[in-house]
Amino acid sequence: MTVVGIDKIGFYTPGMYVDMAELASARGEDPNKYLIGIGQSKQAVIPPTQDVVTMAANAAEQILTPALKAEIGMVLFGTESGIDNSKAAAVYLAHLLDLPQNTRAIELKQACYGATAGLQLAADYVRVHPQGKVLVIGADIARYGLRTAGEVTQGGGAIAMLVTADPTILALDDVSSYHTADVMDFWRPTYRTEALVDGKYSTNVYLNFFKTVWADYQQQTQRSIKDFAAFAFHLPFTKMGRKGLRQILPEATPEQQTTLTAAFEASQEDNRNVGNLYTGSLYLSLLSLLRHGQLIGNERIGFFSYGSGAEGEFFSGVLQPNFRDGFVEERLAQQLADRQRVSVAEYEQIYAAQLSNDGRDVQLAVGAEQATYYLAGRQHEQRQYRKQ
Ligand code: COA
Repeated sequence: MTVVGIDKIGFYTPGMYVDMAELASARGEDPNKYLIGIGQSKQAVIPPTQDVVTMAANAAEQILTPALKAEIGMVLFGTESGIDNSKAAAVYLAHLLDLPQNTRAIELKQACYGATAGLQLAADYVRVHPQGKVLVIGADIARYGLRTAGEVTQGGGAIAMLVTADPTILALDDVSSYHTADVMDFWRPTYRTEALVDGKYSTNVYLNFFKTVWADYQQQTQRSIKDFAAFAFHLPFTKMGRKGLRQILPEATPEQQTTLTAAFEASQEDNRNVGNLYTGSLYLSLLSLLRHGQLIGNERIGFFSYGSGAEGEFFSGVLQPNFRDGFVEERLAQQLADRQRVSVAEYEQIYAAQLSNDGRDVQLAVGAEQATYYLAGRQHEQRQYRKQ
């Protein structure tokens, strides 16, 4: 059977962050609650000039040459903070990236699970069409509201993945285990711009779903924890994945527990400094594991994807020997290092300056925007996208 999986990964987050120790002090909390209890150090601050479409374009541009663009036959855009209730963000994206018009472009929604749905659908497509190349996106802005319990778990950014045969980064195993149940742990009715969440309940559902799909995966494959060099988790905040890992660590030998814990530390590093990407979080965690971990290739990695509401999936893949060729390390490191810290007051101002929901014409100040793709405003109820 054709080997399929992730050939390239691009990541974009805007150039500003708020420090979590400062935010804790401003909210009257002990900084260690945010830094250790929740496990977040910095949170991306999203200017009004970036939305899921522009962030996805900025992530995708890092991995696509003109020749590759011409070969993309499908764009699957996972998001739960889309900009239109009808038209797919993928259509805007395909136009901005100048992709061929004989492309399918679709938006996928199931909370933070959308990019995993895209990845699995893309992999199945390439198994049938080995020449096919699919662009899979996970892009979101996580907004819970100022001074809410969820504020510390906000963030934003985009992951772009190219799914192909004979991939450079990760060959996906064709077995996976998934589980769906109608649960009200987190949702966002169409009239709201901020999510509703029962965070503690959501954590319990996440952990229970993980237990269920991990058991089912082991039964299907006859594999066990000893077959894995690392696990990557959906990380709305890094403590969540830590709790997930702790749930299965007793199944490993003491030596392997040490290795798996070290791999987890590597996998949470970038998420800790960016915050919640919703759909992209699991794949930022994979990137973080590859960037900061000790893996060398040919190891099996396990993935737990979770989207509230709720859908969970456990799947796996084998890291390819040349995986470092699938992302541009210097660019990722530079992007994160170049970010500017903003004060809590500035973050609050930027948070309030998001494009209004009243449909009126707006011209956005784009002076400080360093990104290639950005939102210049809205005219006649249409978002005005620009490339510089
Ligand atoms: N030092 C170290 N740890 C501390 C601390 C301190 N000074 N103060 C508190 N903590 C720990 C708590 O013990 C707790 O740890 P635990 O979860 O291991 O028990 C953790 O910090 C959080 O404290 P808690 O009082 O539970 O925080 P909270 O009531 O503010 O809620 C969330 C935290 C995560 C539930 C909340 O931010 C939230 O709802 N976020 C959204 C979650 C989400 O997105 N879910 C859906 C997507 S999957």
